[in-house]
Amino acid sequence: MTGDNSVVRLDQTDKVFHTRHFFSRDPKTQIRHFYQKRDVHAVRDVSLGVAPGEIFGLLGPNGAGKTTIVKMISGLVRPTGGAVYVDGLEVERKRLQVLRRVGVVLEGTRTCIWPLTPMENLSYFGNLKDVRGKVLRKRATELLEFIGLAEKRDVQVRQLSQGQKQKLAICIALIADPPVILLDEPTTGLDVQSSRAIKDKIVEMTRVQGKCCLVTTHDMNVAQELCDRIGIIKDGGLVACKPTDQLLDLFSEQVYEFRLDQSPDTRALEAIPGVVAARVEEQGDGPVCTVQIEPERDARSAALYGAVGEFQAQGLRLHTISHRQQNLEQVFLRLTNGQPHE
Ligand SMILES: Nc1ncnc2c1ncn2[C@@H]1O[C@H](COP(=O)(O)OP(=O)(O)OP(=O)(O)O)[C@@H](O)[C@H]1O
Ligand SMILES: [Mg+2]
Repeated sequence: MTGDNSVVRLDQTDKVFHTRHFFSRDPKTQIRHFYQKRDVHAVRDVSLGVAPGEIFGLLGPNGAGKTTIVKMISGLVRPTGGAVYVDGLEVERKRLQVLRRVGVVLEGTRTCIWPLTPMENLSYFGNLKDVRGKVLRKRATELLEFIGLAEKRDVQVRQLSQGQKQKLAICIALIADPPVILLDEPTTGLDVQSSRAIKDKIVEMTRVQGKCCLVTTHDMNVAQELCDRIGIIKDGGLVACKPTDQLLDLFSEQVYEFRLDQSPDTRALEAIPGVVAARVEEQGDGPVCTVQIEPERDARSAALYGAVGEFQAQGLRLHTISHRQQNLEQVFLRLTNGQPHE
């Protein structure tokens, strides 16, 4: 998983946030509680690698630890255990060199300077990363053009809409043409055309220019469409990390749809060994019984024969049997609801 050619590598990385809540004097008892300590284990023993030319998707429920991982790669949060490397450089030790190699867009933060215009922001952040003069002007103009912000280039950022600010944050991340791009929920709040432009740009930067891109998203379509590999994180730990097509296959053999002339008794079906669950949906042309079956071969075979026999015993006419293709959303929900997959 963490191949040698990885540009971004997390090695058994851990992050615990130590938080303290201060309280004033309790008016009734007059006892003063100074503080309450609480540790949040945001990232637990995560190891993963992202190769050049690869788009890696990090998915997980709210609070799973995605942003913390992005911040650790970009040197904004210090890991409590393990190490993070960019281009073979340990982020903790070579922060400045790492910063030059990484472009990052963080969710919902004020990356840009509001009293300045988009063009001035790009000049400022470009200068910080040693991009100047003609190169800077050319790149800034191209970026604003591709993302559809050209007409706002000289308007103060405070006057831009939410989506326009997000677009500028993406341009700022790309101004120094970094080999590593970290995008924390890049398409949130963007209209359809802008999301499309950004997705196309990500594909171009990785496939054509060989950059390495890590994306976090809650949008399963974005993940399924873009990512070569996907890591699913829950409560700080990776619960799966696989190429997207393999991840989609995880549960694919388990769900079958039986189209019938009448609704079956699902309790009888669920009593068949190997059947995990059965339910009926009324569709336009009659009831469809969805049966979830254990993946193990023998159990699956017995369950399928059992189900067909049960429909016959209930006197139902069976029209079609189909094997339902899983989508990423279903896989995600199962993995994050704690279903074992291996
Ligand atoms: N600076 C901090 N201090 C204390 N706890 C923090 C801090 N930053 C994050 N956490 C906690 O760490 C956990 C992971 O947070 P993180 O922002 O990485 O989640 P996330 O996966 O990005 O979630 P979301 O999908 O909502 O963006 C959460 O429980 C959060 O409360
Ligand atoms: Mg987040």
